[in-house]
Amino acid sequence: MNQIGDWLAERIPVSGVQLHELTNEPVPRHLKRWWFCLGGTPAYLFVVQIFTGILLAFYYQPAPETAYESVRYITEQAAFGWFLRGLHKWGATLMIAAVILHQMRVYFTAAYRRPRELNWVIGMCLLLATLLTGFTGYSLVFEQLSYWGATVAANISDAVPLVGNTAKQLLLAGDAYNARTLSRFYVLHAAVLPATIILLVGVHIALIRLHGVSELPEADADDEQPRHFNFFPDHLLTELSIGLVLMILLSALATILPATMGPRADALTTPEVIKPEWFFYVSFRWLKLFSLTFAVLSTGFILAAMFLWPWIDWALRRLTGWEDISVYIGIVATFLLVGLTVWEAIVAH
Ligand code: HEM
Repeated sequence: MNQIGDWLAERIPVSGVQLHELTNEPVPRHLKRWWFCLGGTPAYLFVVQIFTGILLAFYYQPAPETAYESVRYITEQAAFGWFLRGLHKWGATLMIAAVILHQMRVYFTAAYRRPRELNWVIGMCLLLATLLTGFTGYSLVFEQLSYWGATVAANISDAVPLVGNTAKQLLLAGDAYNARTLSRFYVLHAAVLPATIILLVGVHIALIRLHGVSELPEADADDEQPRHFNFFPDHLLTELSIGLVLMILLSALATILPATMGPRADALTTPEVIKPEWFFYVSFRWLKLFSLTFAVLSTGFILAAMFLWPWIDWALRRLTGWEDISVYIGIVATFLLVGLTVWEAIVAH
């Protein structure tokens, strides 16, 4: 046993003490509460998505003639296929919800302020990559809403000045949905976007490790308690408990509300109601409220403001002298986000 230990120590020259130091970043005590450490939740769900996605890929066939039938085979015939599909679908929903909630926690605790501005920007790239992965995933089923959702999204991107038409051509592999479109969505969904997310999460976590998690001013803190605890094993145990709850929740959702199939895509029949997935309800409602050009330009403006928020917030605080201005802007934005999403969810058109 000792010989194996010596052999390994020579090849991987990291001592137990060094390993302990490397993993033992002191974690601020507010991270004992799950809503403060929500960043671990999308990371955990992403692993579930990779695992279930690889299993689904064994059966999925990305071509217009085969895609729908292969999803039907997974859902109705492959052993536990319905369960895997349910896990993947609900995993996507929970991952997107967790990313949004994590971003809200970072926003409302102003954890994006100096020196963490760049990690906010990386987080914004993660948000977009996650949403795009969701969008391309729903397009793979090749049911009516997959087809028409993708067609509508491509037409909207066409309205973006300068780059819009190129983006549409790149997305659809041509001027309109065609025989090559599905394989493009598949490569984006199963390779390009997950690889991008892995790279971004790597940099995101490295920066968090270098800065440490932001401290929280705790007015009512019980000062008898230590202000920090160890990452290993304390924080890891918190994350593992959250992971266990998520696994139970995911399995329950996939069993009680399994993934179903709508009618097969038909290029000649436009469905009466075209709706995107829930996480695009807000943009869809926005689009219906204004003209296409205004909706597209204002969405671009809002996205740019979100990317640059740490610096806009800094400028606003200097101009107004109001330290909490971001909180009030955040409350208005949250009401808008929830309001427009619920509005789109409850109306038929
Ligand atoms: C796949 C998506 C994401 C993953 C896996 C992830 C992961 C994490 C983790 C594990 C932390 C450590 C603290 C915590 O758990 O809250 C964290 C912190 C942070 N995240 Fe994310 N994140 C993601 C998306 C985002 C997004 C969308 C934003 C904002 C636009 C963002 C901005 C930040 C910032 C600024 C911190 C530092 C917070 C602090 O020090 O208190 N992240 N992230």
